[in-house]
Order: sequence, then structure tokens, then C-alpha cells
Amino acid sequence: MHVLGIESSCDETAVAIISEAEGLLVNKLYSQIELHSPYGGVVPELASRDHIRKLGPLLQETLQEANLKLDKDIDAIAYTSGPGLMGALMVGAGFARSLAWSINKPAIAIHHMEAHLLAPLIESISPEFPYVALLVSGGHTLLVKIDAIGRYRILGESIDDAVGEAFDKTAQMLGLPYPGGPQIQQLAMQGNAKRFNFPRPMTDRPGLDFSFSGLKTHVLNTLKDLSENSLTKLDQQTRADVACAFEDAVVDTLRIKSLRALEQSNANTLVVAGGVGANKKLRQQLKEKLAKRGMQVFYPAAEFCTDNAAMVAQLGLLRLQDSSCCEEQNALQINVRPRWSLEAI
Ligand code: KG4
Ligand code: ZN
Repeated sequence: MHVLGIESSCDETAVAIISEAEGLLVNKLYSQIELHSPYGGVVPELASRDHIRKLGPLLQETLQEANLKLDKDIDAIAYTSGPGLMGALMVGAGFARSLAWSINKPAIAIHHMEAHLLAPLIESISPEFPYVALLVSGGHTLLVKIDAIGRYRILGESIDDAVGEAFDKTAQMLGLPYPGGPQIQQLAMQGNAKRFNFPRPMTDRPGLDFSFSGLKTHVLNTLKDLSENSLTKLDQQTRADVACAFEDAVVDTLRIKSLRALEQSNANTLVVAGGVGANKKLRQQLKEKLAKRGMQVFYPAAEFCTDNAAMVAQLGLLRLQDSSCCEEQNALQINVRPRWSLEAI
């Protein structure tokens, strides 16, 4: 049995094929980073148009590499139905459902965040239930308790900016290109961690929600004070010190809340997913601090941590095995859900 997965919720166009017997066969991705880079963030209309351009060629490459035929070998088509950008989702959903209709096979609507939560399964790793997932990307900051597949409880989320967005906006203030996370990480390595001490938002009160917009404003005010209102005058060392203070504040905040979530959930495994999960300081701190408490942290491989179609195909396969979950294959209506809570699955 083979499931084709299609992901187009934001700025990555991705297609993958997973086999029930052999696991992941092909995982293709085309990133739109260069397209959006001049704007400092994702431009939704440009994203939709680029998905239209890339989905067809990526599908052909994927089938060729897997040495499979769409009409003979593919048993279902799984696609991201939400949450995400409306136009981008519509392109992927329209493409996926039309393909499925043309080969008379089921189309399976996938929740993007659920696919992230279950990404460890792609590598045949099944963390023991219950576990906690920290989803940290450009669009999301979530702590979720996973009691079983399909049983998710949101423990905490950002009440304003997503953490990746805070990285990107802080990078922009420091004159760094998009996406800002890797740039801040690089610059922070030269920084003096003792020079500034930025707030760790909402860690001094109970609860598991996050807020990053105040921290962002704190960075802006610090930069303004330092440069007497002209950010261009800042020397390289000062910029590095600010990047370092910002990164430390974010990493501490994520670590404190993740530990709190594990303790409250009686869980001892944390799964980290999303682009910010690539941050080296975050990885090292979580590993060290959790190990001290007899807990463990699991990071899916980088290619499965950020947006990808393997996780969509993987979840599609699970749904197909539990055949009650497929959509009516002949339905012609294309529905996407730009806003879709995990708890509503
Ligand atoms: O999951 P992802 O690739 O895409 C979505 O947002 O869906 O996450 C991208 C985010 C961007 O905000 C980027 O700046 C951030 O992840 N990021 C990082 C690092 N690498 C990527 N943030 C901090 N440190 C990194 N090393
Ligand atoms: Zn994502």
C-alpha cells in the first residue's frame, strides 16, 4: 500500500510517498524562502502562485524517483487541509483532490499540526504515551499533551506572536535577512551573554501560555536606547550581544514551560518539532535539563522537523489503515480549514 502526501500550507511545496511495507520512499521539497526573503516574511499571494508552479513538477519527480505509477500504485492521496494560509491550502487541496478523483482513490484531509506531532513515526520511533510535544515554528508556539493517536490536549500556546515570528522580526531589527532564526543563532555565538538580561515572558506566573511580542518590543527599545534612534549606527559586537540576550531569553522561556508541561502531565518524553526546534542552544539546554530529571527529549530529523510531506503521507497511511477516516472520494467540493484547532479533530 502506498500513500502520496502533499503539503502546501505555507511557504514549502512538498510531495512524498510512503509505503506500508517499506516506510518512506521519497520525500521532495521545494522551499520558497528566496521568493519571500525580500519582503521579510511570507507573502500569501506569492506563496499560492508558486505552489501552482511547483506541485506538478514535484509530483512527477517523486513518482519517477519511487519508480511508481500514479494510477496503478498509489492507494490514497493525503493532503494538508489546514491550518495555514487559505490560498496556499486551496492550491494543495485542489490538486490533491483532483488527482484522487482522477484515479478513483480516496483523498485524506490532514491536520498540519497533528502531522507534526506524529512526525517521530516516520523514523519508526513511537514515544511512550503520554508524551508532550513542543511545536515551535514561524506560525505556531504550542505545548500539546498526546495521550494516544487522535487524543490531543493543548496545554499552552502563544497569546500573540509565534516564537519563529519573534526570531524573524528581531532579525529584521538587527538588519539580518529572512528567515531570521538561523541568522540570530549565528550572530549570537559571538555575543556576550552577560551584557543584557532580557525578560523571560510569563515564566513568573503559573500556566503554560507564551507571549513574545513584549520581548520583541524590549529588543526594539534596547536598540533605540543604544543607538539614539538610529539602528544603523550599532557596532557588530552590540548587535551580537543583543542577539545573544534575545536567544537566551527565548530558549529559557521554552525550556521552563516545557519542563512545567512534562511535570504537570506526568510524562517523561518531550518531542520538539517545527523550524525553531533546529536551534542549537534550545536543543542543548533541553537535553541537559531534562536528563537531570530522568526525562528525555526527542528531535525528529531536521527534514521531518520543518514542514514536509512525509509527515502528511505518514498520517494519511495511519488513516487509511483505520479506514473509517477517509473522505468521500467522489465528493467534488474542496474544503480547507485555515483555522483548525487540534482539539477539534
Ligand atoms: O517549521 P518552519 O520551517 O516553517 C513554518 O513556520 O511553518 O519554521 C520556520 C521558522 C522561522 O521563523 C525561522 O526563523 C525559524 O523557524 N528557525 C529558527 C532556526 N531555524 C529556523 N529559529 C531559531 N533558531 C534556528 N536555528
Ligand atoms: Zn509546520
